Amino acid sequence: MAGPTKNTNKVSFRDPDKAARSLLILIAVIMVSLLIINILQDKDSNITQYPSLKFLISRVIVKDVNLKDLEENIETHEIKFHDPMYKKEKSYKGFKVQDVLELGFGDEWKSSEFTDVVFEALDGYVSVSPVSKLKQSGGYIVFSDLDFEEWEQISIKEVTPGPFYLVWTGKDQTTANKYPWPWQLSSINLIKFEDQYSPVFPSGVSKNSSVYKGYEIFKGRCVRCHSMNGEGGKVGPDLNAPQSIVTYRNAYMIKEFIKNPSKYRYTQMPDYPDLSERDLDNLLAYFRYMNETKEN
Ligand code: HEC
Repeated sequence: MAGPTKNTNKVSFRDPDKAARSLLILIAVIMVSLLIINILQDKDSNITQYPSLKFLISRVIVKDVNLKDLEENIETHEIKFHDPMYKKEKSYKGFKVQDVLELGFGDEWKSSEFTDVVFEALDGYVSVSPVSKLKQSGGYIVFSDLDFEEWEQISIKEVTPGPFYLVWTGKDQTTANKYPWPWQLSSINLIKFEDQYSPVFPSGVSKNSSVYKGYEIFKGRCVRCHSMNGEGGKVGPDLNAPQSIVTYRNAYMIKEFIKNPSKYRYTQMPDYPDLSERDLDNLLAYFRYMNETKEN
């Protein structure tokens, strides 16, 4: 029984008609695949040609604008200044940060309803900046490195800052002075900090208390890497959950570490030699308060 069946099979494979049909199907499959690859590549090259910036209000996307639209709607500027990330003079082409915010949010970004702007990078890096800082002149969102064909790599970080990079041309507009310098910027989120980061916010304290002052330092300099109760940056440890830092390190060691982490560890955390004893006490007051008012 098995013998004859096998035989007929063999014969049918040799059938020239069937072979031709199989060949045709194979060719068709290859052509369709090539077409799909082509379409995908086209899409890709469109994206690299026109990178886009997303605008969000309270984490909801309100606009998605590509570079072409930005260039058509906002004046471009060529700027040259000492870029602290490269530690040398650089020239760029870009837009004033206020013009970009205006295009994305209209007048709303100046409304007292909002307190901060969250800049998010392609790799998830987040920096938070008070709206008041962004109203100052000197900030540019640049999209072209005029010294290089593509982008020059920032050597210590091994990144290229494009497609969008927020820079500040003023001498004192540094990250140490809490100006945001995100590179590979992908979205701009306008928020009311208390609402969006409520687990970080010390509710129920007055604005001139030491807890509040500590919170302001934390928000300006630390929240991009540290979270409180799960909300905030993910580069460093959460400082309130599951255990608050004040429950397992003594005050002296916490302050020592914050001022000078590089003395103790090879770490990504920067040194903060400019934080005064009072600043450090305010940070501790904030950590203690957050621990005492923790829900669980
Ligand atoms: C660039 C990211 C980054 C920033 C900004 C940053 N930290 Fe850190 N921090 C870290 C990392 C990473 C660690 C983990 C320690 C290590 O690397 O060994 C850490 C650890 C800590 C610790 C715990 C040390 C311990 O005992 O284990 C404290 C407290 C701390 N940071 C406080 C702060 C405060 C306060 C600020 C703001 C003034 C701040 N950090 C800013 C990244 C950061």
